[in-house]
Amino acid sequence: MLRQQDVGHRIVVRRIVGIREGRPLFSDALGELVELTETHLTLSTAQGQLRVPVAQVHRAKRVPPTRRPTAAAVVALERAADEAWPAPSRGQLGDWLLRAADGWTGRANSALPIGDPDRPLPAAVDAVERWYAERGQPPIINTPLPLAAPVGAELDARGWAARPPVLVQTAPLPLQPSAASAPPDNAPVARRTPATAGQAGTAVADADAVVELAAAPSAEWLAVAAGRKGGLPEAARHVLTAVGQVRFAHVYVDGTLLAVGRGTVTGQGRWLGLSLIEVLPVARRQGLASRVIHELAAWGMSAGATHAFLQVEQHNTAAVALYQRLGFATHHTYLTRVAPH
Ligand SMILES: CC(C)(COP(=O)(O)OP(=O)(O)OC[C@H]1O[C@@H](n2cnc3c(N)ncnc32)[C@H](O)[C@@H]1OP(=O)(O)O)[C@@H](O)C(=O)NCCC(=O)NCCS
Repeated sequence: MLRQQDVGHRIVVRRIVGIREGRPLFSDALGELVELTETHLTLSTAQGQLRVPVAQVHRAKRVPPTRRPTAAAVVALERAADEAWPAPSRGQLGDWLLRAADGWTGRANSALPIGDPDRPLPAAVDAVERWYAERGQPPIINTPLPLAAPVGAELDARGWAARPPVLVQTAPLPLQPSAASAPPDNAPVARRTPATAGQAGTAVADADAVVELAAAPSAEWLAVAAGRKGGLPEAARHVLTAVGQVRFAHVYVDGTLLAVGRGTVTGQGRWLGLSLIEVLPVARRQGLASRVIHELAAWGMSAGATHAFLQVEQHNTAAVALYQRLGFATHHTYLTRVAPH
């Protein structure tokens, strides 16, 4: 049977899905074990997340990984991602990073436990708890898996909660062209004007609707970010702008900001990072997000980036579908762990 050490690893589960003529019917599922509790286990499969009650599990075991990135590749990407979302208040615990940004976003307000914390694991977690307590913030640790599975097991033992899994996805540049979008130049986009917003299916081409990339976000852009991430404290501006190579994508139509996105180039110039991709509900499914991403990718390549990465919650099916179409695949996952009150 499975143990906490198996979290973050690939497993196969044979489960009982019914009974026919007095005999159990089995079904096999293969995927990464993202959660294991006394009552159920959660698998990340190619088809999405699968929650299996322990009572239904006939047999389960670990299987060898497929094309798993090396630990060094995960560390390099996590460090590039940290550089792309820089918390203004920072500390170190050996190799571990401690980050705080007035509570704005989990990523900028969490410890990143990669490498050696220079002390035994329980003492390292104690030190993380103290660092956040001194700042009046809840202790949070982001555990990339399976790299930080031992940290995850320690946090399980301490009763830390886990937020839904986040997929760290990557794609080589250039991205796959998407049929409905990304014409070679900054050509007109299909859109619904604000005047007709809300009338489903009303889409018109507008010769002036282009993706503008700016070195700084507009006030409207920041308002979208505030809406998505819950406010915009001073530290948020630092997180968004304190990167050497950064661009803010804006798509305005008749003075209304319909779509936004943010691109960074970090990790010794290798990685284009995509964040805050968002389209107003009335303007969705018209190719705007794809266009924003393609424009940021073109900028990233001109700055020397060879690959793109992003972080997306596994249950965000719209975004996962969008990214899959552009050629993104999951590199690794992470869990945001929060200390009990
Ligand atoms: C995810 C989001 C950015 C997509 O924006 P969009 O402009 O509607 O996306 P596009 O029109 O470029 O979609 C391109 C393709 O992605 C896929 N896709 C996009 N939204 C989808 C959805 N809701 N369901 C299924 N597939 C979807 C489709 O394949 C789509 O092509 P199609 O319309 O020809 O079928 C938008 O839904 C959004 O703003 N969501 C809230 C913010 C968010 O979650 N951002 C991502 C954070 S990581």
